[in-house]
Amino acid sequence: MMTSFSLKTNAIRTQHYFNVSCNTNHDENHKNIKTSLDMKNVDRRNLLLGLGGLYGAANFTSIQSAFATPIAAPDDISDCVATAYKGIGNSADARRSLACCPPVLSEDRPKDYVLPKNPVIRVRPPAHRVSEDYMAKYRKAIQAMRDLDENDPRSYKQQARIHCAYCNAGYTQKQSGHPEKEIQVHNSWLFFPFHRWYLYFYERILGSLIDDPTFALPYWNWDNPTGMTLPPMFEDPVDNDLRRNSIFNAYRDARHLPPAIVDLEYNGRERGASCIDQLGINMSTMYKQMISNAPDYISFFGGEYRAGQDPISIVGSIERGAHTAMHIWASDPRMPNREDMGNFYSAGYDPLFYAHHANVDRMWNIWKQLGGRGHHDPTDPDWLDASYVFYDENKQLVRVYNRNCCDTTLMGYDYETSRIPWSRARPVPRTKNPTGATRSMKRIERVEEINFPMKLDQIVNVLVKRPATNRTKQDKEKASEMLILDGIRFDSEKFVKFDVFINDKDDAPATTAADSQMAGSFAELPHNHSKDKMFMMSAVRFGLTELLEDMESEDDESLVVTLVPRAGTDDASVSEIKIQLIPIE
Ligand code: C2O
Repeated sequence: MMTSFSLKTNAIRTQHYFNVSCNTNHDENHKNIKTSLDMKNVDRRNLLLGLGGLYGAANFTSIQSAFATPIAAPDDISDCVATAYKGIGNSADARRSLACCPPVLSEDRPKDYVLPKNPVIRVRPPAHRVSEDYMAKYRKAIQAMRDLDENDPRSYKQQARIHCAYCNAGYTQKQSGHPEKEIQVHNSWLFFPFHRWYLYFYERILGSLIDDPTFALPYWNWDNPTGMTLPPMFEDPVDNDLRRNSIFNAYRDARHLPPAIVDLEYNGRERGASCIDQLGINMSTMYKQMISNAPDYISFFGGEYRAGQDPISIVGSIERGAHTAMHIWASDPRMPNREDMGNFYSAGYDPLFYAHHANVDRMWNIWKQLGGRGHHDPTDPDWLDASYVFYDENKQLVRVYNRNCCDTTLMGYDYETSRIPWSRARPVPRTKNPTGATRSMKRIERVEEINFPMKLDQIVNVLVKRPATNRTKQDKEKASEMLILDGIRFDSEKFVKFDVFINDKDDAPATTAADSQMAGSFAELPHNHSKDKMFMMSAVRFGLTELLEDMESEDDESLVVTLVPRAGTDDASVSEIKIQLIPIE
């Protein structure tokens, strides 16, 4: 892997033609996207039974009684509690402000936000191919934000704090009658809409500071080979005229400056793959997260999370995948809490965060465009009515709802097109029908014989029964076969990652996302969910339908599921491993 440690003292590179192609044209036409998965909603009972099994009857009841209540941020933002020190280890180590609450400008309650009618469409460009003019404008806008008084809700610091308040237990569910529960915008179906609104106001504030109603944030195009480096505009401390580059941030991994290629399966260690291999891994990673592991909206957005519940849910395929990987990849490993990008409390301090999340947000649009019956926004009222409170570009406190953020053109912005060559990067199996290989595995435990919770401090091979074999095309259209890991318990202060393989050889760690055998991974940024707990719970699921087709293993009655720890799992465990058919509602 190439790395660059050179720190240029002047001159921003003209990056419009920066090339990350390994001399091969990977950027193919993305028409005729092939996806055999066409699934709809999860059966709610399945989810509940899963959770009930985990947390016992008491919690099962509380989850049921919580139905029909959307999560809502409090009207009174002075209710915000500064708890950011939770989840960042020793607070003396914190490199960023621990006070995350917004300034209170008046006693007025937030007004319901109304989207401007017939807005000029702001078109978000890919960060690696913007004009000099655009770059100058963007830098000027961020500088203007930095120059605001820090008690101005539009200021750089206050904008950064928003993320911390919504992630590090700044708000409770008081508004929905549950002051004892915190609000968490990660690891559930709130992930995409919260961040969409966050960027929406951030972008409008930047535009208004430079008096340009067309100003649009750039997106970090990490899913296309041409965008698979840190966008060079963020790299240099100073600009062409030796002025401070306002979008530069010192707290980043110096090994990952251009031309280092991003690793969308980053484990916190350098993979050392050749350029061409890394591109292949990235392409297949995208394919899995957008297609084979996201046939329905819960798998893509994340699981249900309603008022009265703890933030324990299924984490969506992009969130736990490329999203977390890029946070860690960009962050500074020399910092005590991997500031800035590598920890939720500090991530908003890096301008790169907003370019990163613009691409995450773009994935929401693309996923819907991929088609397939399951590819739609959640329709559950508790999702549609969930709401957050922000300051808009006029310092007005407003309340915004998920239901109003489903269509970006109605919101007044869109994305400049960039091809999605990963849509044809369906992985290929390392070996087909490897039943013989799995038999030679040294230690396979039957899932029925395991004493759960099962620790994740070493590689484990678990034999899991399938609910059905040789499913027909019609069966597959009715339900998706998914591997479900429930009750994943881990230390929330650590970067945690493990990978999951199906019917692989004993040396599964050699398998990458480019091989069908890899079902996917689970990764979490360090942060905190609950006031007193250091441990956190989550769940994840992986699509098996295409994987089994690829491996010609559709008649296997059981599968060997291999869990390979990658980072921070020494004290992690899993409570349940099962394969289920997730029906289409
Ligand atoms: Cu709110 Cu990328 O995290």
